[in-house]
Amino acid sequence: MEAVTDSPAVWASHLRKRYRKRVAVDGVSFTVARGEVLGLLGPNGAGKTSVIKMMLGLVRPDAGEVMLLGRPNTDPRSRERVGYLPELFRYQPWLTADEVLALHVRLAGVTVSDRERRDGLGLVGLADRASDRVGGFSKGMQQRLGLAVALVARPELVVLDEPTSALDPLGRADVRDLLLSLKQRRVAVLLNSHLIGEVERVCDRVLILDRGRVAASGTLAELLGRRSLRLRLTSVNDEARSVLGSFEREDDLYTVDMPDDVPALVADLVEHGVRVHAVEPARATLEERLLDILRTHPEEHR
Ligand SMILES: Nc1ncnc2c1ncn2[C@@H]1O[C@H](COP(=O)(O)OP(=O)(O)O)[C@@H](O)[C@H]1O
Ligand SMILES: [Mg+2]
Repeated sequence: MEAVTDSPAVWASHLRKRYRKRVAVDGVSFTVARGEVLGLLGPNGAGKTSVIKMMLGLVRPDAGEVMLLGRPNTDPRSRERVGYLPELFRYQPWLTADEVLALHVRLAGVTVSDRERRDGLGLVGLADRASDRVGGFSKGMQQRLGLAVALVARPELVVLDEPTSALDPLGRADVRDLLLSLKQRRVAVLLNSHLIGEVERVCDRVLILDRGRVAASGTLAELLGRRSLRLRLTSVNDEARSVLGSFEREDDLYTVDMPDDVPALVADLVEHGVRVHAVEPARATLEERLLDILRTHPEEHR
């Protein structure tokens, strides 16, 4: 068992999947460490859902291997400690929310008390809807229930395929808090979301897919790179320009590489007669980086 708990939550190697003539996934490898939140990003049709389904053994890959929590995903036991929220799902409309949870717990072959099921519904804001039929639930409520299903059996790995697509901003904030609490409990999470801001806020690492291939991957710091400093300045003379070094300018907004000593730079500028209206650290957002990466990802794979 020791080896099993030490192993990464996910180890996926050279996954490949073709549907008829279309190559959906073309040699994708990645790992998710214990307690890590990995964001899966990429345009529609990039292969994100296919990767997730192959990973969970729901779709057979043409090539590649996956280990989940230390076991090959072909081993039926590998799924025991994995929670999954599928991208498209519908629950039996005649069941109540609590019955849906109980059914999935039974299918997972785990024991969960009534109390834990109640807490599970509470966690996603459905505490007072436990005995309501799912058929009357809005899409957002069904998505919340899907999250409860994914989390109810105390998983060590949680896989969420677009968990917030039907949620309002408040619901999204709830999911964000939920993800952060999973992270604190060292539960590993694979999150596929097109809400890049959300990914940026909660993910430790990001994997960007494009046309079935990995276009980029890394920690947010690695992907977003060096920070810069933005200054709003007037009365900038030639001498002040040389103090700034190389900069980009848009009207009175100057962007320079982050200096080692910000106060010293500001003091220097002031000494040269520059009027300093604002100084703020800046960094490309993940959205800007993503668009950049997708724009420059080699054409030959198109
Ligand atoms: N069951 C399927 N049959 C045929 N083509 C499929 C099937 N599932 C996915 N595809 C195709 O594979 C590609 C990747 O799809 P998918 O993995 O759903 O992408 P994403 O989740 O990133 O939007 C798309 O071109 C899609 O049309
Ligand atoms: Mg998808």
